[in-house]
Amino acid sequence: MNPEWWQRGVVYQLYLRSFADSDGDGVGDLPGVIAHLDHLNDGTPASLGVDAILLSPMYPSPGFDVGYDVSDYRAIDPAFGTMDDFTTLLDAAHRRGTAVIVDLVMNHTSHLHPWFVASRESRTGPYADWYLWRDPKRRGWRGRRRPPNNWVSFFGGRAWTWDPGRGQFYLHTFLPQQPDLNWRSPDVRAAMLDMIGFWLNLGVDGFRLDVFNVFFKDRDLTSNPRHWRARVRRWDRQRHLHNKDQPELNEFLMEFRSLLDAAPGRMSVGELFFGDPAGAARYAAPRHLVFDFRLSEPEWQAEALAAAIDEREAAFGPDRWPTVVLSNHDQPRHASRFSRGAERDAVARAAAVLLLTLRGTPFLYYGEEIGLGNVRVPRREIVDPPARRYWPLPVWQNRDASRAPMPWTAERPARTWMRTTPDAATRNVERQAASPDSVLACYRQLTWLRKSSPALQIGDFAWEVRARSGVLAYWRQTQTERVLVAINTRGAPTSVALPVDAGWQVLLTTSSAGAGPIGPGALRLRPYEAIILRPPSP
Ligand code: GLC
Repeated sequence: MNPEWWQRGVVYQLYLRSFADSDGDGVGDLPGVIAHLDHLNDGTPASLGVDAILLSPMYPSPGFDVGYDVSDYRAIDPAFGTMDDFTTLLDAAHRRGTAVIVDLVMNHTSHLHPWFVASRESRTGPYADWYLWRDPKRRGWRGRRRPPNNWVSFFGGRAWTWDPGRGQFYLHTFLPQQPDLNWRSPDVRAAMLDMIGFWLNLGVDGFRLDVFNVFFKDRDLTSNPRHWRARVRRWDRQRHLHNKDQPELNEFLMEFRSLLDAAPGRMSVGELFFGDPAGAARYAAPRHLVFDFRLSEPEWQAEALAAAIDEREAAFGPDRWPTVVLSNHDQPRHASRFSRGAERDAVARAAAVLLLTLRGTPFLYYGEEIGLGNVRVPRREIVDPPARRYWPLPVWQNRDASRAPMPWTAERPARTWMRTTPDAATRNVERQAASPDSVLACYRQLTWLRKSSPALQIGDFAWEVRARSGVLAYWRQTQTERVLVAINTRGAPTSVALPVDAGWQVLLTTSSAGAGPIGPGALRLRPYEAIILRPPSP
């Protein structure tokens, strides 16, 4: 396998529960993924040609945060299959040259994990200090127990829950059913590194590190200062100085990274738990990517996109390698974010060009290759815990919206764990595979073009036109290749002045009418057209 796949390649994030259901129980599973590996990469341009898949957590979990509350780190949730299914998937993926990245949820466990069960049972047993237990600060007004500090949970409410059995509070950055581990305990760190060794030995190629920058908290658990701003969420009204980004994290990262670096071809990608591109870039290292989600914020508007691109380029600079993410399981899908009307597919194709030609490792999110949009989930069906908690306050996007089952065919499955998108009969993989103008056809063309172009894979980035008249045009270049990407974000034709008159080669256009005329002196872009050009050789 190419040792630089983490940099040159394209990663496909699939939400296991919704990707492909092989046994009709309504829940996606590992055999379902195996059955659809050809869609991801069959070695020909009739597939997406991705280099790696990133699996959402597949471990046993009581599911309070849909899998992000793990009760056993070394097993497969029976809903998803067996350990044999997992190793079969690994082999089958590897035979296709596709790497497999798994999600490590190590900040917290499920409250039903045997470690926490033992920890809450005894203040002196071997697991006593595996979690962050504290006595009440003091009795407050009316004799109520006061938590040790002012920290709040990201999902709403206090970050401390009282445990009557142990007679102490425990900390949870997320749900009370997701107690935070005590990363200052050498036993916890050893257990985690051992568990990582287990997956490496099985042949896993990489890890996503869930919310890695909150593993360590301030040793004294100092209260956070207030952030004076008019926000509804209590979380947003604190400055999170003491519950994330602590210096001790770096020691652990070094240890973790050296374990991976000892094994050729392995990588990691850290999920920075909120923060800007500069915050992400600080942690990025060769083979160890860090997500920043700046590009999943703007609408489809040239100036806003250019500002996000500039911020990332400035933060990562020439020496650090960013990721490119437009959608994931925590964000609204970009097809819906970027457009609400009939132009949806044209915009989705142009956005695909952006995603696959900016500098960085692209992470596709399942379903975006067919322009899948958000699904509206009525209140009684909401699964996402904070969405239930905050309903109907407009402070939280119900994350179920971007987790709908993948529509493979027009046929409606008899059972699904959550509702499918309403347009599944017309927007599905089978249908788009048959159409040369589909969003899917565009993704396939792009990923395969990328494979043959060092400039698109690893080249530098430089603007040609920065958000003038709704156009984003930029160069990607290595010493041996230059490629120009031009994207018209608007629904009206426009033109871009070109430095050279003739001899341009069109590598790809998203316009079903074909590329507009090139030259003399200008490139004419059709509505929402994105085009990739090779300049005439000098
Ligand atoms: C990460 C995951 C998110 C989960 C949270 C708590 O942000 O992406 O889905 O809810 O961590 O584990």
